[in-house]
Amino acid sequence: MIQKYQFGTPFATEAVVEEIQISQGKPDYGTVSLEEGFLFSYSMQEEDIVYGLGEANRGINKRGYCYISDCADDPNHTEDKLSLYGAHNFILVSGRETFGLFVDYPGKLTFDIGYDCPDLLTVSCARADLDLYVLEGESPADIVKQFRKMIGRSYIPPKFALGFGQSRWGYKTKEDFVRVAENYRKNHLPIDMIYMDIDYMEEYKDFTVNQEEFGDFSAFVEAMKEKNIRLVPIIDAGVKIEEGYPVYEEGIAQGYFCVREDKTPFTAAVWPGYTHFPDVLNPKARAWFGEKYRFLTDMGIEGFWNDMNEPAIFYTPEGIEEAKGLMKAFLADQETDARWDTTLGEKVTFLQLRGQLEELSNRKKDYEQFYHQVDGKLIRHDQVHNLFGYNMTRAAGEGFAVIDPEKRFLMFSRSSYIGMHRYGGIWMGDNKSWWSHILLNIKMLPSLNMCGFLYIGADLGGFGANTSRDLLLRWLALGVFTPLMRNHAAIGTREQECYQFGNMDDFRHILGVRYRLIPYLYSELMKAALEDELYFRPLAFDYPEDKMAAQVEDQLLLGRECMIAPVYTQNAAGRYVYLPERMKFIKFLPDGTLFEEVLEKGHHYVEIALNEVPLFIRGGKCIPVADAAECVEALDMGTVKLLGFAGASYRMYDDDGVHKDYENPGNWKILEISKSC
Ligand code: GLC
Repeated sequence: MIQKYQFGTPFATEAVVEEIQISQGKPDYGTVSLEEGFLFSYSMQEEDIVYGLGEANRGINKRGYCYISDCADDPNHTEDKLSLYGAHNFILVSGRETFGLFVDYPGKLTFDIGYDCPDLLTVSCARADLDLYVLEGESPADIVKQFRKMIGRSYIPPKFALGFGQSRWGYKTKEDFVRVAENYRKNHLPIDMIYMDIDYMEEYKDFTVNQEEFGDFSAFVEAMKEKNIRLVPIIDAGVKIEEGYPVYEEGIAQGYFCVREDKTPFTAAVWPGYTHFPDVLNPKARAWFGEKYRFLTDMGIEGFWNDMNEPAIFYTPEGIEEAKGLMKAFLADQETDARWDTTLGEKVTFLQLRGQLEELSNRKKDYEQFYHQVDGKLIRHDQVHNLFGYNMTRAAGEGFAVIDPEKRFLMFSRSSYIGMHRYGGIWMGDNKSWWSHILLNIKMLPSLNMCGFLYIGADLGGFGANTSRDLLLRWLALGVFTPLMRNHAAIGTREQECYQFGNMDDFRHILGVRYRLIPYLYSELMKAALEDELYFRPLAFDYPEDKMAAQVEDQLLLGRECMIAPVYTQNAAGRYVYLPERMKFIKFLPDGTLFEEVLEKGHHYVEIALNEVPLFIRGGKCIPVADAAECVEALDMGTVKLLGFAGASYRMYDDDGVHKDYENPGNWKILEISKSC
C-alpha cells in the first residue's frame, strides 16, 4: 500500500509514473513538522536497518551517518563525503516496523540516519514543497517492488552492452582506438565496446567529431563494428560558446539555455571553456537537445555516456572576478607587507586565497544565480538542482525514441535522480584505484537497484590514482557480475587496459567468465526490469529470520539463484564468507574447468586465487552458462548448459537484444538440469 502526502507546491519532477491519490491525514510512521522548512522524524529501534539512498556513501545499512542529496561533482569519494553524483531519496526502514519512504524533492535534502542522535532518523529540507510517499508491504522486497512499479520500468540496454568495455580519458586519435581494438582482438581478450572520452570532439564541443583525427567518422564506426566493437562517445552537459557552432547558435536563437534572472544566458566554464547549459527541464529545449544525438546515431553510433551533468561548474565569470579581487589584495599585501588591505579590511592570507580558488568550482552561489524556464516560469536552479542529470539523460532517451522507436540504445549517466532510471543506467563516477573502493562499489549495487537503477557499474581498476595488476583483476572479478562492465581510467594515471600487465592469460580468463555468464546475467537483468525485481539484493532480503545474514555487507545475492562474494583485500589468498543456506561453491578456473563443492550453511574460509572467479549457487537452483566468446555477437546459445544442483530448473529470458519486443512470450524458456556442465 502506498500513501502520498503533499506539502506546499511541489515541482513536478515526474519521478513517479503511477497515479496516486493524495492522502489527507498524517503518515502512519514518524512525525512531520513544517515549522522550519520540512522535517520528518522517526524513532528507530535498535534492530532497525535502514536501506536505500542509491548512489550514496558508506554501508548497505545506512545507519549511523548523514547523507545529503545534492548532486556533486566530487572525485574524492572518501568516507566523510555526504554527497556523491546522484540524489536518490528512497529509504526503507526494516525492523520492528517496516516501511519505505520516498521524498520527491529536487533540491538539497538531508537524511540524518542516527548521526546527530543514534536512534533518530530525520529527513529535512529548507522548503516544504514536496511529495512524500510512504510505502507498506509484507517485506522489504515487497515494498521495493511496489516502489519500483510506482516509478516505472527501469531502462533496458541493448544486449551488446552486457559485453566488456574499455575506456580511458586520453584516447585522442583514430590510431589510439585502433590500437586498443587490435590489442584486445589479437590477444583474444573479449571486448564489445570502446568508449570515447572528450578528446574525440572538436574542442570539446558536443555533437562534433574532430575531423582532422577521424575524417570519415561513419566509415570508422563501421570498420570497428566489423570487428564487433562499438564506439561509445561521451556527451557533456555544457555547450561551448562559439559563434558559428550550430548547437550554440540554435540554442541562443531558440532560448534553450539556462538563464540568469535577467534572462540572458548563464555562463559557466567546463572542459570547452565557457559554455551554456541546455535547459533540459524545459520540454522544448529537452526535445531539441535529445534530437542532437542524431548527429552521431546517423553515423552508426548506438550508445553514449552523459557526463558533467550535476551540472559541474569549474568556474563562472563572477567567481573569477571575486577571485581576482582577492588575488589583487593578496599580492598588494605581499608587495607592501601591509597588515591591512583597504578594500577588504584585513590582510588576505594565503589560505584564504587558496580556499577561494578551490571553491571556484561547483559554488553554491553559482547554482543560485541561474534559472530554468518551465511553463513560462523562472525556476531557480538550486531548487531543482538534482534534476539536471536526470533530464539530460531523459533528453537523450526521448531523442532515441524519436530517432528509432523500436531500437534500444546504450545510455548511462553520471548524475541522476529517481526517474532517470527509466532512461539510462549510471556509472559511479570518479572512483580511485583503492581496495576500499571495490567494497564501496559492492555496497552501492543493491541500494541502486532499490531506486530503479539496474544498468550500473563502477570504473573497474579505479579512475583516479595508479592501479595495480592485482587490484584490477580482483575488481574485474566483481565487474563480471555488474551489468555495466567497463575499465576506465583518468588521464595521467598508469595505463590499465587488460593487456598492459604482461601475461594476459588471467585477464582473458576473467573476461571470458563474464561472457560465459551472459545468458544468466542478461536473463536476470531482464527479469529485474520487466518484473520490478532486484538484480542485486542484500542477504537479509531473502533470509529475514537469519540475524547473521543481516550483518553481511560484502556479499550480495544476484538474481534468485546466486550469491557473490568478491575479494577486495590486497594479498588475500581468499576470504571468509557466510552462507545463509547450503550452497554450491563454484570457481571458474583458468584452465576452463570448474571447481565445485557443496558447502553447508555457516561460516567458511574459501580460497580464491587472483585468476579465479567465485560464485555460490543456492540450494536446489541452477544457472545457464555458455561457452566463452570474444563478443556478445559470437555467444553461442546452443552451448548453454546448466550449472548447479541436480533436478533444478531455470526460467530463462532471451531476445534479439536489439529491439523492444519484451512482452513476446516466446522470449521465455524453462531449462532443466538434465544437461549438466
Ligand atoms: C569526468 C568523468 C570521467 C571522464 C572525465 C573526462 O571526470 O567522470 O569519467 O573521464 O570527466 O571527460
